Amino acid sequence: MYQKEVWVALKAARAGASVVRQAFGTNLDTQFKSDANPVTDVDHAAEEHVLNVIHHHFPDDSVLAEERGGAAWEAGRVWLVDPLDGTVNFIHVLPHVSVSVALWCDGSPAAAVVIDVMRGEELTASLGGGAFTGSNPMAVSMQQELSHSLIATGFAYDRNVHGSAYAENMGEVLKRVQGIRRFGSSALDFGWVAAGRYEGYWEFGLQPWDAAAGILLVTEAGGRVTNHRGGDFRLGDIGVVASNGLIHDDLLAAVQVALPDHVK
Ligand code: IPD
Ligand code: CA
Ligand code: CA
Repeated sequence: MYQKEVWVALKAARAGASVVRQAFGTNLDTQFKSDANPVTDVDHAAEEHVLNVIHHHFPDDSVLAEERGGAAWEAGRVWLVDPLDGTVNFIHVLPHVSVSVALWCDGSPAAAVVIDVMRGEELTASLGGGAFTGSNPMAVSMQQELSHSLIATGFAYDRNVHGSAYAENMGEVLKRVQGIRRFGSSALDFGWVAAGRYEGYWEFGLQPWDAAAGILLVTEAGGRVTNHRGGDFRLGDIGVVASNGLIHDDLLAAVQVALPDHVK
């Protein structure tokens, strides 16, 4: 199911990735959407290229894209697009950036593609069809011990307000795991859980386009995704916890030791 959609998502994400790759390390026109949230001319250009491909193949579908906005994701066929995930890395010429494209149907993920732009790695998944890196099936890690687990996290753009609370929350997780990484692309954080590189990932304040593709990569690779309370994750939930499933309850418990007040 959804093989054509995965093919179109891949074609669209490749179009966006090509724009991002060509602009990497060049002079950028940077604006600020809020205090800590930058956007460049390349975010906009990549988004246009992604959307052109989607519109060409599925003119009747809706779109929710980070820079252009768009439809609510809960009903019908909606494409969720993050044309450049890792904009802060991109601005600093740090080669960890991705393009994320997903189709959601009536509130559930159906097809997903995340391209690691500078490494050229393509992560794909379709509902019931498994998850792949290129043509190789992806599977989550088999690690059962949280203390031996490498965990990713990130910080939403409201960190200027909630930074201390995020740090305290992370400190409690840090005591219980092998290590924490904050590489700066949520789509790749999910993707690397799916690929078995991280055992888990948690973050507060993600937007729908940050998580739309990644959660299908994780679940199709055999992992688990919940909100930070352990309930079913819905796009727009303030907290997400993704894992290989085996450490999920322990990671959830660690995340809950020092929850920031605004997410309680
Ligand atoms: C951001 C990145 C980052 C995450 C932030 C996101 P952007 O997306 O995914 O890793 O911590 O919450 O907003 O702005 O680079 O598309
Ligand atoms: Ca993003
Ligand atoms: Ca983005």
